[in-house]
Amino acid sequence: MKKKGRILSGSRPTGNMHIGHLMGILQNWAKLQKDYETFFEIADWHALTTYYQDTEKLKENIYSMVADWIASGINPEDATLFVQSDVKEHAELHLLFSMLITVQRLNRNPTVKEMAKSLHLPQNISYGLLGYPILQSADILVYRADIVPIGEDQLPHLELTREIARRFNNLYGKVFPEPKPILTSFPRIPGIDGKRMAKSLGNAIYIRDSAQEIEKKVMQCFTDPKKIRKSDPGHPDGCVVFTYHKIFNSDNVPEIQENCKNGKIGCVECKKNAAKKINEYLLPIREKREKLLAKKETLKEILMDGASKARNETRKTMTLVREAMKLW
Ligand code: TRP
Ligand code: SF4
Repeated sequence: MKKKGRILSGSRPTGNMHIGHLMGILQNWAKLQKDYETFFEIADWHALTTYYQDTEKLKENIYSMVADWIASGINPEDATLFVQSDVKEHAELHLLFSMLITVQRLNRNPTVKEMAKSLHLPQNISYGLLGYPILQSADILVYRADIVPIGEDQLPHLELTREIARRFNNLYGKVFPEPKPILTSFPRIPGIDGKRMAKSLGNAIYIRDSAQEIEKKVMQCFTDPKKIRKSDPGHPDGCVVFTYHKIFNSDNVPEIQENCKNGKIGCVECKKNAAKKINEYLLPIREKREKLLAKKETLKEILMDGASKARNETRKTMTLVREAMKLW
C-alpha cells in the first residue's frame, strides 16, 4: 500500500511511560503506523543531555520503553523502532547543523529553559543541553521526514528544525523538506493531584503499575473538597477521578455525573470504580509488557533490525548532504 508520507517521532528513555503517554502519544503512533512510513526512536543521547551523571539505569530504561511501546500497540512489522545511538548519522548531521545556528538563537528556546528549570539545573547549562533542539532537528531531517507527531511543548524544537531545513536548502541546495507537526488531539490526562501528569511531580499512574498500586493512587486522588459525605452534592467537573472516568469508563459518565451531583454516590465508591476500569484497560497491556521484558533478546533483535532499516535511510541522506555541502 502506498504510504501517505514519512513520520519520525521519539521519546527519551528516562523512566517508565505513564497513562498520559499511553493515551496521548502511543495510541496516536499506533494509528499512524498503518498509513505512514513511521520511524520511532528511543532518544538515548537526548536523555544524556540531562542525565549524563546517572547512566546506571539507561539500558534497563531502553528495554522498558520499547516494551511499553509494543505492548501499547506499536507494531515492529509496521513501524521502525530503534535506539538513536545505534544510528551514528544522527550525530554527524547534528555536528553539521550546529554550524548553522547561533548560540543566541538557541538561548531563546523556551522548552530547553523549562527543562533546565524543572530539573533545577544551573543557569549555566551544558553545551549538550543547549544543542538539544539541534540534535532533535538532525533526528527528524536525517530521515527527511515530512510529519512529526508531537506534544505542544515540542513545537519550539520543530520550528528550529524548519529553520535549519530552510537555511540548509538556501545555502547548499534543496535536500530537506520542511516538516510539519501533528499535535495529539487527545486531552491531557491530569496527575492524581490534578496538576499535569509528570514523573518529576510524583503524581503519575504508570502502564506498569500493579492493580494494587493503581487502586492506592486513585484512592489518593484530588476530588471535590466540598464533598465529604456521600450525600453531599459534588462538582464532578473539577474532579480528577471524574476525568479518569471520562477516559476509561466513558459509557457510564452521564450516570456518574448525576449521582455525584445528587449525592447518590460517595467518593470512595466512585474512586474504586475508576481504579477498576483503569485496571481493566491496562491489564492486557501490562501482561504483554511483562512477557516482552522476560525475553530481552527478542527486544534487542527488534531494535537492531530497526536500526539497520533506519541506517539505510540515514546513509542516503548523509550522502546527499555531503554532496550538497561539497565536503570531503
Ligand atoms: N524531545 C522529545 C521529548 O522530550 C524526544 C525527541 C527526541 C523527539 N528526538 C525527537 C520527538 C524527534 C520528536 C522528534 O519528548
Ligand atoms: Fe469526584 Fe466521584 Fe467524588 Fe464526584 S463522587 S467528587 S466524581 S470522586
